[in-house]
Formats: sequence, structure tokens, C-alpha cells
Amino acid sequence: MEQLAISSAEESSNLNRIHSYPLLRYMGSKYKLIPWIHETLDVLDFNSAFDAFSGSGVVSYLLKSMNKKVYSNDFLNFSSVISKAVIENQSDRLDQGDMLKLLDLTVDSDDFIQKTFDKVFFTKSDLIFLDKVSHNILSLSSKNKQALAYTALFRSCLKKQPRGVFTISGNLDKYNDGRRDLRLSVREHFLEQIKIYNDVVFDNHHENITFNLDVFDFSQKMFKPDLVYMDPPYVPPSDDNCYIKRYHFLEGLSKYWNGEEIMENTKVKKIKKKFTPFSYRRTAINAFDQMFDKFCESTLVLSYSSNAYPDLETLVSIMKNHKENVEVKTKPHKYHFGNHSTVSRSKVDEYLIIGQD
Ligand SMILES: C[S@@+](CC[C@H](N)C(=O)[O-])C[C@H]1O[C@@H](n2cnc3c(N)ncnc32)[C@H](O)[C@@H]1O
Repeated sequence: MEQLAISSAEESSNLNRIHSYPLLRYMGSKYKLIPWIHETLDVLDFNSAFDAFSGSGVVSYLLKSMNKKVYSNDFLNFSSVISKAVIENQSDRLDQGDMLKLLDLTVDSDDFIQKTFDKVFFTKSDLIFLDKVSHNILSLSSKNKQALAYTALFRSCLKKQPRGVFTISGNLDKYNDGRRDLRLSVREHFLEQIKIYNDVVFDNHHENITFNLDVFDFSQKMFKPDLVYMDPPYVPPSDDNCYIKRYHFLEGLSKYWNGEEIMENTKVKKIKKKFTPFSYRRTAINAFDQMFDKFCESTLVLSYSSNAYPDLETLVSIMKNHKENVEVKTKPHKYHFGNHSTVSRSKVDEYLIIGQD
């Protein structure tokens, strides 16, 4: 196991950092459960951890704040950009010179966003800003700085969506309750978010690494983390759990839609969803079994919830095929995710299923 090389004062001040991680309204985010996840992980013996489904990055950031060596992965590009900015990046921040570059609206940029998303999610001036800033980000001197600027831009774009998702378009006045977040332009948000994310960057003295892969593309020959934390999408009782449907705009923005095909017949100009076996009853059980097998040499920690399929008993028995000792921690939790939520979906038990040898 890799040894820590930091003082205990630095260790506890790093841990305090988790409280300043910016809230991203991301479906399934464990933001509100972080104190409980911390308490649960804190008693386990590990120095390196793999967050296989990093999403908003908050669990990876907890692990970084706990001074672990962190491997962070998500198959969505924009999620992995967030992890690059705040997990892998230990010291690059955006300074005055970078801001001058980023905010230069005189550059001759492409106008893909203006043309494609006219009257969809943003005003004309927001769309022009997004085209220009996307161009300018690429002129920043390091990939870490670029990732940090993108991350600030993602949060700015999300804040401008009345329901925190990119599923509704056109005249959004009926959702406009006068909130400051809806009044500010994307540029104004961006300036605020850059400051916020600059403060999130810190060095935990490990070489933390970000991936953008399907979880099934990993093998333990690539690396062997002491612990693997898994928070896959849950097969919901009704509705769907598609991340692309809700966040396609951020996924496209993270690569300026390069290599993505817009589905022109959709009102919100979506891109194609990515298949994941965790979304379907017919494939989920086998997917868990394969995933546990893949990482069976590490301590396994699975986040799951009582309103999802398969049930707890099934998951525990699958994990027992790969681990000698399987323990379950339970926490009642209320979800406040805005769209399509029903009373029965909002009150659940959250589980952490822990497998050790
Ligand atoms: C429940 S969310 C994770 C939330 C995250 N723990 C947080 O607190 O923000 C599930 C994530 O899994 C990702 N995902 C789904 N299928 C995947 C796969 N096969 N490989 C890698 N990532 C996947 C999704 O893009 C999504 O970000």
C-alpha cells in the first residue's frame, strides 16, 4: 500500500475541504450523503480508491480530501472533465491572464452553438458567449486549466436551467420564479464559478488519475486500488435513468459536439444515449456479477437504494460470490430531485454494501 506523506494538520485541513465542494444538481448525486459515506469509509483500511462512476465528482473529492490516491472514472466525457479539474489537477488555477483570454469575445469562433440551440435553452447573447468561450478554452496553456474552465462553464449552464436538466426547451418563462440563478447571464455565472472552482483545487500529494471509460473496459491488470466504490445508475421502478437525456448539452459542450450526432428531430437537440447494462432489468444482475468479479481483489463498496432493482438480498448474494464478508450499512434518505419525482420515489433507504475478504 502506498504511504501517506503529509502531516496530520494538513490531513485534517484537507478533510474540511469536502464542505466547500460545489453542489451540482446531478441525478443520483451522493452530495447529501457525503458525511455518512465518509463515516463508513473512514473505518476501512485503504490508501487508494477507484470511484468507478464518478458523476458530479463529489465522492472522488471526498476520497481526495481523505488523502487517498484516487482513480476517478465515468463514461460521460463531461463527468471525467470535472474529475480532471478537481481530482487529477493538484495546482493549476485560472489567473488574470487566463480570464482575459477566456472572456475575449472578439475572437473569430465557430457558431455551432448559436445555430444549433437557437431558442432552446439560452438567450442569443448566452449562445454567442458559449461559442466564444468554447473556442477560447482551447487556448489555455494546460489540459488541467481547460478542464477547470469547462467545469465552471458546466455549472454555469446548469444553473440557468429552471429544473437543473436539459429536457425542456423554448419559452421557459413559466418556470421563471425570479431566482437569481435564472436572472444572471452565463457570463456572469461563469465569472463566479471560476472563483469557486479555483478554491476547490488542492494538492493531496498523490498522483490522482482520471479515466473516461466504460467500467467494463477496466481490468485489474491496469491498476489495483485497495478499494473500489461503485455508484452505478439504478434501474428505477418507473420512468428512466438516462443521463444523456438530462445532461446531453454538457456532454456535447465538453467536446464541442465533436464526434457526436445531434438528433435533429428532437426539440432539445439531443445526442444519442449510451448503453449501460445497469439501466435494464434484463441486464442489471449479470452486470453486477461481472463488475464484482472484475474488482474482486479490492475491497468493494456499492452504493444502492431500496427503490431500485435488483433488491438488497439479491445484491448481497451476488457480492457473496466474490467476497467472504459482506456487510450492509443503511440510511433513510429523502431525494429532492426535481423532475418526475413522486412521493414513493423520494423516500428511500440508502445502502452501502461492503465486501471484504
Ligand atoms: C448514480 S451516478 C453517480 C453519481 C456520483 N456518485 C455522484 O455522487 O455524483 C451514475 C454514473 O454512472 C455513469 N455510468 C453509467 N454507466 C456506466 C458505465 N457502464 N461505465 C462507466 N460509467 C457509467 C453515469 O454517466 C453516471 O454519471
